[in-house]
Amino acid sequence: MDTLQVKQRIAALSDEIRKHNYNYYVLSMPVIGDFEFDLLLEELIRLETDYPEFIEPDSPTQHVGGGIAKEFQQVQHKYPMLSLGNTYSEEEIRDFEERIHKIIGDEVEYVCELKFDGVAIGLTYRQGILVQAITRGDGIQGDDVTTNIKTVRSIPLKLHGQGYPEEFEIRGEIILPHASFGKINLQRIDNGDEPFANPRNAASGSLKMLDSAEVANRHLDGFFYYIPGYHPAFKSHYECLTAARSWGFKISDYVVRCKTLEDIFDYLNTWNTARYDLPFDIDGIVIKVNDLRQQEMLGFTAKSPRWAIAYKFKAAQVTTKLLSVAFQVGRTGAITPVANLQPVQLAGTIVKRASLHNAGIIASLDVRIGDTVFVEKGGEIIPKIVGVDLDQRPVDAVPLTFISDCPECGTALVRTEGESAWYCTNETGCPPQIKGKLEHFISRKAMNIDSLGEGKIEILFDNGLVHHCADLYDLTYDRLIGLEKTYESTEDKKEKKISFREKTVANILNGIEASKKVSFDHVLYALGIRFVGETVAKKLATHFISVEKLIDADFNELIEVEEIGEKIAQSVRAWFSEPKNLELINRLKAAGIRFTMDESLVPPISTRLTGFTFVVSGVFEKFSRDELKKTIEAHGGKNTGSISAKTSYLLAGENMGPEKRKKAEKLGVPILSESEFLNFLQ
Ligand code: IVH
Repeated sequence: MDTLQVKQRIAALSDEIRKHNYNYYVLSMPVIGDFEFDLLLEELIRLETDYPEFIEPDSPTQHVGGGIAKEFQQVQHKYPMLSLGNTYSEEEIRDFEERIHKIIGDEVEYVCELKFDGVAIGLTYRQGILVQAITRGDGIQGDDVTTNIKTVRSIPLKLHGQGYPEEFEIRGEIILPHASFGKINLQRIDNGDEPFANPRNAASGSLKMLDSAEVANRHLDGFFYYIPGYHPAFKSHYECLTAARSWGFKISDYVVRCKTLEDIFDYLNTWNTARYDLPFDIDGIVIKVNDLRQQEMLGFTAKSPRWAIAYKFKAAQVTTKLLSVAFQVGRTGAITPVANLQPVQLAGTIVKRASLHNAGIIASLDVRIGDTVFVEKGGEIIPKIVGVDLDQRPVDAVPLTFISDCPECGTALVRTEGESAWYCTNETGCPPQIKGKLEHFISRKAMNIDSLGEGKIEILFDNGLVHHCADLYDLTYDRLIGLEKTYESTEDKKEKKISFREKTVANILNGIEASKKVSFDHVLYALGIRFVGETVAKKLATHFISVEKLIDADFNELIEVEEIGEKIAQSVRAWFSEPKNLELINRLKAAGIRFTMDESLVPPISTRLTGFTFVVSGVFEKFSRDELKKTIEAHGGKNTGSISAKTSYLLAGENMGPEKRKKAEKLGVPILSESEFLNFLQ
């Protein structure tokens, strides 16, 4: 063969193998036997080995793997990878339908799908070729696992057919079918490794392997269910999925369109039992508004789309014996009763402990030591006790009494009106609270001092070096070197020893120094104010810009901030009115911690649009919809998804839904074109 013939043969073999892969892995309808297939693949591998200049990035030999990564690059998602609102109750599905009905009206069609229990993935295709695969990560950025994803044989490296956008992303779930899961675990047990608890963990662990040839051996699979972004060729979600199927993606066969709640509940009830017959795990169903324009009208909250909801199947349940109850003290001083159970297998893991939540639950369950209890594992990681089998109650079962004093420091516990949890108020003297606060302070989303990870905070605390997060900034080499401790690892419960040698100390001090660069929103989160999670901290920091302004803000100013409700505002006010907290801020400030947002991160660049609320809809000439929204925010304005009496302007582009225009006209909301808006800004 001359080189031209080799090139042609490689192309022909690639096409043929691609088709067989599709028939086998996507359609489950192979048309040739394994032996014939292997011959074709071997020929292609041989030719590519001899003529590496002809290897295409979409060659089916990429499925075999081979690339070894040192680490995974963190990559920003083009569209944030959001989650779905979850529910376990049919009532909430009715509420969801009602909310949508109120906004959209009668003409709503839904699509019901299976909720795959795997690892979310976003694949980007450019000119029909898979160019990037990113995991969810924190939703803003994830790991680039392209090489590993290419080993998933049902994922097309090159698309079939036509009509796909020049560049687009498709999202789905990487799963591990039961058959592969069983094989992997047998192998692991053989090798003396801990078996994976469930297929989802195994899929996630597999995607994080650095050797892609090993990933290929795991036989992962993937289902795809969402194309983010605006694609004018499609009017509905169902159309998107049908088109994606024609491009070679594995789309579930169990996607159905539903008109009524009754249809939705039929689907739900069918899969609630039929799920056990599937060769892979699902953990619920997903209900989506089909029409893409209606989806756009509904928009998104900070965390999830308003046009979809996930119904999670009720958790797996077992019974076991309650042996004893321990009371744990958390970072906030809240007391959590934890049940010690006779070990029992539940949904793939062995359960030894379960949460009993609070005194109210203990009382309402009337649970006693020695009882046979029902244990459930739902969406949460820690299993919980949900009931008592009274028929099995032994005569000598001991009723449980909730403690009245803190088990760690002896302080009398208190309970605020309307709250279920009991608290130890000894914030500054109760060891688990102090350590918990320090651990929160150094955590990744807070000050990100990972060199102070597991066990190290404990050493610092036990040696009287830190009591308070500000004490971290007084640590020196001389104080740290030589410290030692054995501790029980939270991961494997094994005894481990830490010694602070030169390198460890240097890492700790460098980590602490680096935390001085952490932006104000993360610092605010690190302070551990009740109800101030990551998102709230960001909202507060970008709104008030400096801690001084936040300290001065009264209740009314706080609740004016988007997403800040009364509960959060009260908690923030209470925290900043404590002199000891103000002193803490002064100490942290003196240490060089940032208490002002960096100018470049802070909108607005003008206040021209402050007080105005916009709805941006349709397609624009000069800017994308996202760019316009960012511009509005950069000038102090607010964006919302749907028109209400509070909307100041509707910024309308081409192809805007007629409902939006009608609603704006009805409510007297002025409509601006793109050029009018730009003039308005100037
Ligand atoms: S749609 C904008 N459809 O479940 C949100 N998600 O708990 C698009 N999932 O984040 C997601 N099956 O990782 C969608 N048929 C399905 C799904 C599905 C599983 C995952 C996905 C999502 C999570 C929410």
